[in-house]
Amino acid sequence: MKYGHFDDRNREYIIETPHTPLPWINYLGVNDFHSLISNTLGGYSFFKDAKLRRITRYRYNNVPRDISGRFFYIKDGETIFNIGYLPCKTPLDYYVCRHGLSYSIFQAKKNDLDVTLTAFVPLKDSCEINKIEIVNNSKEEKDISLYGVVEFCLYNAVDDANNYQRNLNIAEVEIDDTTIYHKTEYRERRNHYAFYHVSRKHDGFDTDRNTFLGLENGFDSPEAIQKGTSYNSVVSDCYPIASHQLNLHLKPGEKQTLVFMLGFIENKQEEKFVSKGIINKKKAQELIAKYDDVCNVDKALAELKEYWDNLLAHFQVSTGDEKFNRMANIWNQYQCMVTYMMSRSASYFETGTGRGMGFRDSCQDLLGFVHMIPEKARERIIDIASIQFEDGSTYHQYQPLTKRGNADIGSGFNDDPLWLVGAVCAYIKETGDYSILEEMVPFDNKVGSEKTLYDHLLISLNYTIHNLGPHGLPLIGRADWNDCLNLNCFSLTDGESFQTVENNDTHTAESIFIAGMFVKYGKEFVQLAQHLDKQTDSNYILEYTKVIEENTVKYGFDYEGGYFIRAYDAYSKEIGSSRCPEGKIFIEPQGFCTLARIGQEQGLGKKAVQNSLKYLLNDYGCEILYPPYSQYYPEYGEISSYPEGTKENGSVFNHNNPWLTLALCEENMAEEAFDLYKRNAPAYIEDISDIHQTEPYVYSQMIAGRASKQYGRAKNSWLTGSASWSFVALSEGILGVIPDYDGLRIRPCLPKEMKEVTIDRLYRKKKFHISVHHTGAPYKMKLNGKEVEGNLLRAEQCLDDNIVEIDM
Ligand code: BGC
Ligand code: NOJ
Repeated sequence: MKYGHFDDRNREYIIETPHTPLPWINYLGVNDFHSLISNTLGGYSFFKDAKLRRITRYRYNNVPRDISGRFFYIKDGETIFNIGYLPCKTPLDYYVCRHGLSYSIFQAKKNDLDVTLTAFVPLKDSCEINKIEIVNNSKEEKDISLYGVVEFCLYNAVDDANNYQRNLNIAEVEIDDTTIYHKTEYRERRNHYAFYHVSRKHDGFDTDRNTFLGLENGFDSPEAIQKGTSYNSVVSDCYPIASHQLNLHLKPGEKQTLVFMLGFIENKQEEKFVSKGIINKKKAQELIAKYDDVCNVDKALAELKEYWDNLLAHFQVSTGDEKFNRMANIWNQYQCMVTYMMSRSASYFETGTGRGMGFRDSCQDLLGFVHMIPEKARERIIDIASIQFEDGSTYHQYQPLTKRGNADIGSGFNDDPLWLVGAVCAYIKETGDYSILEEMVPFDNKVGSEKTLYDHLLISLNYTIHNLGPHGLPLIGRADWNDCLNLNCFSLTDGESFQTVENNDTHTAESIFIAGMFVKYGKEFVQLAQHLDKQTDSNYILEYTKVIEENTVKYGFDYEGGYFIRAYDAYSKEIGSSRCPEGKIFIEPQGFCTLARIGQEQGLGKKAVQNSLKYLLNDYGCEILYPPYSQYYPEYGEISSYPEGTKENGSVFNHNNPWLTLALCEENMAEEAFDLYKRNAPAYIEDISDIHQTEPYVYSQMIAGRASKQYGRAKNSWLTGSASWSFVALSEGILGVIPDYDGLRIRPCLPKEMKEVTIDRLYRKKKFHISVHHTGAPYKMKLNGKEVEGNLLRAEQCLDDNIVEIDM
């Protein structure tokens, strides 16, 4: 069952009912100011950092759900309704929510009032704009009241939800004309405030939540709105909100337009006040003056659309498959951008208070993003590398505001350093910008500790080399990519975090997945070093890729089962082999070791991918392991804490399915690759939105597996490495457009049904119009009319505009 439909021309998903199984959200803001916005106008805003600069409050886990947001109430006589249906739940005569690229539009009809709300964050300004157009479609004159309401958060979202002995005393606002300023803690060390403004003189306001709602009411029935008169309350201790009341008189057919704005301002220390206790509003007033003019609002929205036109123009395809095009041209790239910006910090599953920017997450998110804004990718690489330690290990996360490693989450995830190698190689292959390797980058952000980024890469690889276990395979440490495979924790205390509990590491437990990573990224580094004429480094790393490859072939492959083993535990016992009673096969090493071409001559990769499909495939993709663990095993850790079929214990973990798709392409299994691709790609499973539950336009982290009672139910939508890796699978695997050090490699792995494919790609500032004529003929490529040997378009042979024709 569906709850809406795709509108590809406008690049929107149109939600036709507010009763979606979960709130279906969108993200506004592509620079510093961000908002989450659900299809019923729930959500919250923050500046740069969802934990430390939270502007509006959100109650996760609330009942009923999703009633924190920016809410607009219309009172028409006895009827009170919301433009987005919640929180009042007054049935609407018409409802539509159109989630587009960084904007959302809501349309509601009730009592012959026709309302359209457009929400977005302008490209260059730190504010969310809500433009409201109301038309009176009745035959009578109407006197109605419109209220806009937001609830402020006290900036630190963790303190906001904890420290009530203080919080209930500190709220401060200033009301100036038709703007409400939230200035809690501005009197002391904060140099920032928020404001909520409406473009027309208001007829009343409230800033005290209890007064506005009434003692026992919720946002579904604010007393001030029920009574029809605001209290003009001025909060000065607890629960700051901002509410504007506007009384509107509308003639039949008349349309009125209002602009609400939630803004965020930072002032210099010496410019904080204009007089004692009175905040400096200059910057806010400039913003207000700008967007009080509706023409500027429309212009800013047009700029935003143009911004997206330009970004997406870097990669556009036409394949004859509508759903594939939709993922490729719109939604997969959009999700890559959002995931890149947010890492795993703020979604409807991530509160924004726990996890900052992940090390491995950012490195992987970059893979699906670097073709859009390489400059931002460059910046992120330097930020991430700066939280590495001198021995090559890394913090696991950092806070975006401070850019410092997060000690609470700790370190010791032995895959982390290698992702940096992967990310930097991908950046250079995309941009050709080798100068990044000469950047001086500190360790743990310590001044004076700087070494070149190139050295950081070498140190990363050395970290694996210096941490090999009994089989000569990489030690797993706290965990590898699979955060929940905790082979050294042995945790028996309830509530302990598997991520930070003392690690009882005896340097025995080994990861075959990390072995695959080392061989794959080690080989990429070797090419890089050769390019730079660093022969010693290249020989040295090449030597070790061979050693680890040999050890993997010897000890990392289950020759009875016909696939790669997952790991060795702290007792040196196999995990993920046919000899294990449970967890007999894991997906991760199958994809990565095949991509690393480990045991290629013996055909290990082919066997591994075939057997993965045999044991792991369900309707929605390949499960992460099979069969799931039926009880808690302290020697395996968190993985066995989940009920069978969920999360790392046997769901389809969307993140690693594309590894297998790519591996299938590596093995030239085009039909199987495309089949696997389609099983979890959002656009292809839109029809089961009632089962799937999360948004049908983005990937979720997981889809419950066969062993789950909720088979097919997805969780943790939006912020997941599934986005970037699926984009890599789509663009580099199936379509085969592969950035390489010396140019663009074109090696499509198309299913039979894709006969004519065109791809427009912007690569190193040059345009490529690639058309593939797919008939099964031997591969032949022409660049601007001339035949090219092999499949590489060497950068120096390309013009500003290139026509590439491929027969295959
Ligand atoms: C796990 C969580 C874990 C997190 C850490 C998730 O996939 O299921 O329990 O805390 O990863 O990054
Ligand atoms: C989610 C984390 O963000 C990611 O880093 C990890 O690889 C997966 N969980 C798998 O455990």
